[in-house]
Amino acid sequence: MNIIVKENKAEASKEAFQIFEKAIKAGEAKTLGLATGSTPTDLYKEFVNSDLDTSDIVSVNLDEYVGLAADDPNSYHFYMNDVLFSKKKFKESYLPDGLAKDADAECARYEQVLADHPIDIQVLGIGTNAHIGFNEPGTPFETPTHKVLLTDSTRESNKIYFEREEDVPTHAYSMGIKSIMGAKKIVLLAFGENKAQAIKDTVEGKVDESVPASVLQNHPDVTIIVDKAAASLL
Ligand code: F6R
Repeated sequence: MNIIVKENKAEASKEAFQIFEKAIKAGEAKTLGLATGSTPTDLYKEFVNSDLDTSDIVSVNLDEYVGLAADDPNSYHFYMNDVLFSKKKFKESYLPDGLAKDADAECARYEQVLADHPIDIQVLGIGTNAHIGFNEPGTPFETPTHKVLLTDSTRESNKIYFEREEDVPTHAYSMGIKSIMGAKKIVLLAFGENKAQAIKDTVEGKVDESVPASVLQNHPDVTIIVDKAAASLL
């Protein structure tokens, strides 16, 4: 694992963008794996403010809440349109369908999307419990795309985005750890003191399903870019 510590989120996001820019310009990144949440917002701003041509690039997102329509302001479809796709042209963009009637069929469809578009670079955030995607502690490392029951800690962290606590979805579709590990290159970003323990466990701890991101120790090309606060326990 390559660990890079930057002064703050803005600097770290610039560093991350350079990795994407270099690979895209070299023709080595045709498909990007994207994340949502507060972590990658500055990275997406770097994309938007750059003259990098992404019109031939395919994007595949990690996850979507079950039960939310694409035009629901809390859906990850909405988030991605808002921060990136409405401002920067991509060739095609894929996310799980939160309104899919048949969960098993939706997971199978998404696995086919991934098979058709193998991810060249995957961007990841990390939960305070070290989840990646919505792969919560205890998720087997061999899991492909699946429907996940969100933990209380994840629902608690995400409730700030919802008007009422009971509106926070209970389930999500998530690319599994197996699918994430299939990416050629992985860039994980983490900012703030509340991510420090998860980063320490991921980097220095034992590879164990109780710490989902620890599996990244087994991947041949992972760069972790953190601010000083998230690196404070390393
Ligand atoms: C979202 C995702 C999640 C987040 C994680 C951290 O697509 O995959 O794993 O990366 O929950 O969320 P933030 O960035 O909001 O702290």
